[in-house]
Amino acid sequence: MPLIGHLDPAFLEIMNDVQRLLRYAFRTENRWTIPVSGTGSAAMEAAFANLVEPGDTVLVPTNGYFGSRMESMARRAGGEVVQVHAPWGRPLDPDDVEAALQKHRPAVFGFVHAETSTGALQPDVPVLTAAAHDVGALVIADTVTSLGGVELRVDEWNIDVAYSGGQKCLSCPPGASPLTLSDGAFAKIRDRSQPTRSWYLDVGLLESYWGEERSYHHTAPISNIYALREALRLVAEEGIEERWARHLRVAGALKAGVRAMGLEMLPEDAWWLPSLNAVRVPEGVDAKAVTRRLLGEHGIEIAGGLGDLAGKIFRIGCMGHACRPRNVLLLLTALGEAVQREGATVDVAAGLAAAGDALSRD
Ligand SMILES: Cc1ncc(COP(=O)(O)O)c(C=O)c1O
Repeated sequence: MPLIGHLDPAFLEIMNDVQRLLRYAFRTENRWTIPVSGTGSAAMEAAFANLVEPGDTVLVPTNGYFGSRMESMARRAGGEVVQVHAPWGRPLDPDDVEAALQKHRPAVFGFVHAETSTGALQPDVPVLTAAAHDVGALVIADTVTSLGGVELRVDEWNIDVAYSGGQKCLSCPPGASPLTLSDGAFAKIRDRSQPTRSWYLDVGLLESYWGEERSYHHTAPISNIYALREALRLVAEEGIEERWARHLRVAGALKAGVRAMGLEMLPEDAWWLPSLNAVRVPEGVDAKAVTRRLLGEHGIEIAGGLGDLAGKIFRIGCMGHACRPRNVLLLLTALGEAVQREGATVDVAAGLAAAGDALSRD
């Protein structure tokens, strides 16, 4: 069908819907809630480029790939980066965060709620935000792999800025990426002494289009905004809390199946991330050969580890529409068969039985 224009009255209604539905998914009343043109990294860059002023101290985590991306973006925005450490595969310890906040007194603290590179969820978010606010820091949360799949309460948890992507738990094509900013965060941006270095991602300028005025800043990615509206409409139709519960239940069956088969999960249960399941590669098994088999023989794409975890974990997404019992059972069968053919000993039948049990229990 022909597209409509980005200032067509009908499109303005679609924009309103998307903003309303994004607030619902983020669990926020933030007026400043928009889809940023581009993938998750564009929303991430919008967060850092706007909130960080040259000379600001920015505290970022070291426990995964996306913490490092925060570091690069904060530096490019002129920030002085300091770090809070935790090993890959583990969340930040609130005591370490508090100590780093007290020591460095940063203007901005970024953390990754759902670390896609390691399958670790960051628990205790309200404790982290309270500690940050005690020293006057604003908090940026990376929610790319949690929005729409894992419990996330932007207002209740006092997160100042959260960004996400479409292609993870929203099951949407990538290209328009959620961003929400509190009034406090927006005030810091409004009071900047120098304009943000990015014209395209300047949220002050974007306000002309996404705020009351609805005047041109840049052409919106119309089809992506349609898609995002539909994806968010499906989230609302299911119910956000029901959706979190589905991810827990269905990915919980995946986890039970993996363990019963004789494989090990990387994260402990306290920080297991339902949307991204990191499974240890059995001793002596070539991880790449397994992922190739899954894709070539079953049409299932799973990822390998990154950095220090390369060759050591499989990363299995269980996100959004794909997070279904049928897919979990198919994956367990295919994974079990593939690791066996690559030399591991696993009990696929026990894995399937445990997953089936977990699914029928709840
Ligand atoms: C936690 C996290 N942050 C940021 C990004 C960047 O998003 P994108 O690749 O859509 O630009 C990703 C992508 O996988 C991610 O998983």
